[in-house]
Amino acid sequence: MSDPALKKKSRPPLLVANWKMHKTIAEAKQFVETLAPLLDKSQLVYLAVPFTALATIAADCKALPVSVGAQNMHDEAAGAFTGEVSAQMLKEAGASFVIVGHSERRRLFHEDNAFIARKVRRALIEGLRPILCIGETQEERDNNLTQNVLREQLTACLEGVLPEEMERLTLAYEPVWAIGTGKVATAKDVKAAHGFCRDLVAKKWGREVAAQLPLLYGGSVKPEGVQELIVLDDVDGFLVGGASLSPIAFSEIIKQSSKLVL
Ligand code: PGA
Repeated sequence: MSDPALKKKSRPPLLVANWKMHKTIAEAKQFVETLAPLLDKSQLVYLAVPFTALATIAADCKALPVSVGAQNMHDEAAGAFTGEVSAQMLKEAGASFVIVGHSERRRLFHEDNAFIARKVRRALIEGLRPILCIGETQEERDNNLTQNVLREQLTACLEGVLPEEMERLTLAYEPVWAIGTGKVATAKDVKAAHGFCRDLVAKKWGREVAAQLPLLYGGSVKPEGVQELIVLDDVDGFLVGGASLSPIAFSEIIKQSSKLVL
């Protein structure tokens, strides 16, 4: 990235564990017990846990430098939506953030940009920090459509969000072809995608908003690959799926992310 005003010095590394549909309450408690002594206060650590473990894990993490959140929510405040969970319910259970627009939600549960935009709005209204995921599929990448997809998803999902609300947003670039596949995007790909996103945010919401926006990479992140990416100007941390299920692997990712930035 060219603009020195948008550099990362004020953005501490943020590591988000996305457990997906894994871990019972007992397993989640065990994870936190193992992770706790491996943390120090220099990192921002978020755990996106299953709904059922939220209240217990939020309570267990009260004295730790760890924020607890959810992997999804509904966009309406309340109503006849069998099986859904509201932002207010998440907050009451102890969530401080929520992942929205994950590619698994888009692909397997047919969530479109308009629905995701309403979730972002609801999260902001209710005081939850949204982590918005965007990213291209293999086919879109092969057709050189990566930037078009990122522009479309980012613009549509953040429709109407004000600059002061952007301060509570985290953006995660997750190329769909890298999620759960073992294929990590190259540093060159990540640099290009993150630079593009931050420039776009700067154009729409101003350079100050862009400069403070945490921009995460997600997709087959493992401890070994972290250092090469965290040194990039526009990479502020990681959204980790598979490797976040092990407290040892996740703590190694946290350690590797902090070393070169602090
Ligand atoms: P992965 O998942 O690390 O297992 O690829 C990342 C994600 O889906 O957020």
